[in-house]
Amino acid sequence: MKIAAVILAAGKGVRMNSELPKVAHPIAGKPMVAHVTHTARLAGVDRIILVVGHGRAEVEKLFQPGQVEFVVQREQLGTGHALMQAEGKVSDEDTMVVLAGDTPLLQTTTLKALIDHHQASGATATVLSTQVENPFGYGRIVRDQQGEFQCIVEEKDAAGAEKTIREINSGMYCFQVKDAFAALSGISTQNAQGEYYLTELLPLLKNNGHKIEVLNIDAPEDIYGINDRVQLAWAAEILRRRKNEELMYSGVTIMDPHSTFIDSDVTIGRDTLIYPGTIIQGRTRIGTGCEIGPGTYITSCEIGNKAVIENSRLKEAQVGEECNIGPFAYLRPGAVLHPRVKVGDFVEIKKSILGEGSKAPHLSYIGDAIVGKGVNIGAGTITCNYDGINKWETILEDGVFIGSNTNLVAPVKIGANSITGAGSTITRDVPDNTLAVERGNQKNFTIKPKAKPGNNRSGT
Ligand code: UD1
Ligand code: CA
Repeated sequence: MKIAAVILAAGKGVRMNSELPKVAHPIAGKPMVAHVTHTARLAGVDRIILVVGHGRAEVEKLFQPGQVEFVVQREQLGTGHALMQAEGKVSDEDTMVVLAGDTPLLQTTTLKALIDHHQASGATATVLSTQVENPFGYGRIVRDQQGEFQCIVEEKDAAGAEKTIREINSGMYCFQVKDAFAALSGISTQNAQGEYYLTELLPLLKNNGHKIEVLNIDAPEDIYGINDRVQLAWAAEILRRRKNEELMYSGVTIMDPHSTFIDSDVTIGRDTLIYPGTIIQGRTRIGTGCEIGPGTYITSCEIGNKAVIENSRLKEAQVGEECNIGPFAYLRPGAVLHPRVKVGDFVEIKKSILGEGSKAPHLSYIGDAIVGKGVNIGAGTITCNYDGINKWETILEDGVFIGSNTNLVAPVKIGANSITGAGSTITRDVPDNTLAVERGNQKNFTIKPKAKPGNNRSGT
């Protein structure tokens, strides 16, 4: 028996007020719906079927081919109608989990609890519920005097007393496939919104003699559904807190979690220290024993062990072990630093490789360069890599010493252990073991000293 998850993700999300479909909005560095699919996989779900409709192309392109399956809901006639689209897709003997694409806070333990409870109880349908302080906007779980499940009443359909019920429907369920689809065709649109409510399915099954379970768990955060951008920010704060805590428990020191923003998929090794004001995004991997920040912004980088990065911006770069970056360095896509490289203040590096132990300590632009080992790049040096039409390469071989304020006009190559004089504009290749100097001869002219004002006053 397999577990198939149907994730409802066809709605527009009107309250987001956005061009982008709601479930495609990123949170903690990943589209909302990708958090849900990720959690489903971790909980042991074998197949994921996504019901798409509004902004379908944008939702579909969030996934790699084969990662999930899609079914289309052409008109968004409600959650019940959305599930109808998956009929025939899930085999009768599978357990079917139904989730929403707008609940990115769902955790594996919670989803597993739902699946386990459903399978152990042998119910036809199990709905996950929780108690919340403010149930406004959610469907309420209505129970009879014996406490048995009766039905779910939506906010817009709730009458006086029902509105005070604080046990809410999470919108997450497990079903026996055959019975669920057989009954689903019986739901109506007779409600305040004129929609096919999935919630209708449960009383319908119950009235047909099927066993319905309500799993009430204490996890109000997990079921938090996002409908607008205020809720998006609130949920992002929770994901951030969870990520920081996970990292701290695994041995990372975060000096000020409130000013530290780390995306869900980032990994950081033990004994790394994160200073305040740091943002780490995307697929960044950071090694052990590093010092990152303060004021550092890293997107999708690989950072080796014991690197130190202070007040810098790094994007799609690789930083080797024991490198020392910043303050105020800018590593752009394709910057590859081998171990023990030093990149200092106001240095920008783009699409360049710097060999082990090389240094660009101050005020440089290095673009489209291949730099060997132990190279020293003096302050103010730039690679003139762009002639207005094409980009050209600069090669600095091992042991090269570039004097301050050198212009390296690419394409150009400086041979091993060669030196350029400060202020040179190097336009031709320099062989190995050579000093290249390109500058005008200094001329000194004698000038008449200026008379200092007040010089010929006396007696003062
Ligand atoms: C739904 C539940 C409510 C529950 C809440 C939990 C119903 C009728 N109500 O309400 O009881 O407390 O979730 O968050 O089910 N969708 C489609 N096609 C549609 C309509 C919706 O795919 O035609 C998708 C949406 O993209 C969304 C999900 O279903 O991901 C939930 O839809 P939404 O409109 O947000 O339902 P709620 O009003 O929040
Ligand atoms: Ca919702």
